[in-house]
Amino acid sequence: MTPQVTLIYLNGEWIAPAEAKVSVMDRGFLFGDGVYEVIPVYSRKPFRLDEHLARLQHSLDGVALANPHSPAQWSALILKLATDAEWEDQSIYIQVTRGPMAVRNHAFPAVIQPTVMLMAEPLTTPPAVMIEKGIATVSTIDTRWSRCDLKTTSLLANCLLRQHAVALGCVETILFRDGLLTEGSASSIFVIKEGVLFAPPKDHRILPGITYDIVLELASTHGLPVIVRDISEAETRNADELWMASSTKEILPIATLDGKDIGVNLPVGADDTPFLSPSPPAGEGRGRGYNQRPSRWPIHSKMLAWYQTYKHEVMRHG
Ligand code: PDD
Repeated sequence: MTPQVTLIYLNGEWIAPAEAKVSVMDRGFLFGDGVYEVIPVYSRKPFRLDEHLARLQHSLDGVALANPHSPAQWSALILKLATDAEWEDQSIYIQVTRGPMAVRNHAFPAVIQPTVMLMAEPLTTPPAVMIEKGIATVSTIDTRWSRCDLKTTSLLANCLLRQHAVALGCVETILFRDGLLTEGSASSIFVIKEGVLFAPPKDHRILPGITYDIVLELASTHGLPVIVRDISEAETRNADELWMASSTKEILPIATLDGKDIGVNLPVGADDTPFLSPSPPAGEGRGRGYNQRPSRWPIHSKMLAWYQTYKHEVMRHG
């Protein structure tokens, strides 16, 4: 059965989803005039809450909308959801819009009454097959606006770009702007070439991903060389490995881009059977079918192992 959202916070009240109603004159509804955050919760502990609240503040500042709550007030709301929602692992969604207007007008109302909404959904991490076999992606031109560093609810371009992938039976659309890699429609993208991790710079062209930060931190901790710079479309297509990362998808290897294999020059298993999981379940180990052949994405395998260790040792403890 599909899990149901059971509890919504709307403008000061905790209510059932059926009761949670917003005016059709809300600027979020009419203009997509609002910002949002998605915060992963592991074992009921919100992960990197301060960083998510700082990114929310950056988005609010970027659209000239006053923050309706202090960090302490946000934390209290988020912690209540993390404690009361029925799932141990959650994805908490926060949205703030510029609120209702008396008449439709692009310019802001003189008095702003923001609409504040929070809800929790179950955090579903990607199925093992995606990690083992990698995902199929397509590419297109980045048609979004020039403030992609703001997490705004005006997501029509992202939705169209994501649907482009789905319509072609793929998982994600990789975006290029002016011949350079930006990111995915809802994810950060990393390139591996000759043992170096390349990441596009965190500027107005991409969302400053929290998972992006974790990937760079883990690389630094474990001695994987990192270069942050513009990455060309050709470099992306010729990558040894290509990864997609987000709070909900974690870090996934990309098997194909526009129907072409990524990392074709690397050693792979002799036959074409599924590539092996980098992190065997507890109790399993070498000799039980795991890690016996070289991974097609050896650096991804290492990064995922570092990430899983970090998740169990740090994320689950808040
Ligand atoms: N999106 N880039 C874009 C355009 C995104 O929408 C996201 C995440 C990311 C990764 O950010 P993070 O690592 O902080 O999740 C990068 C979320 C999951 C969403 O819109 O639902």
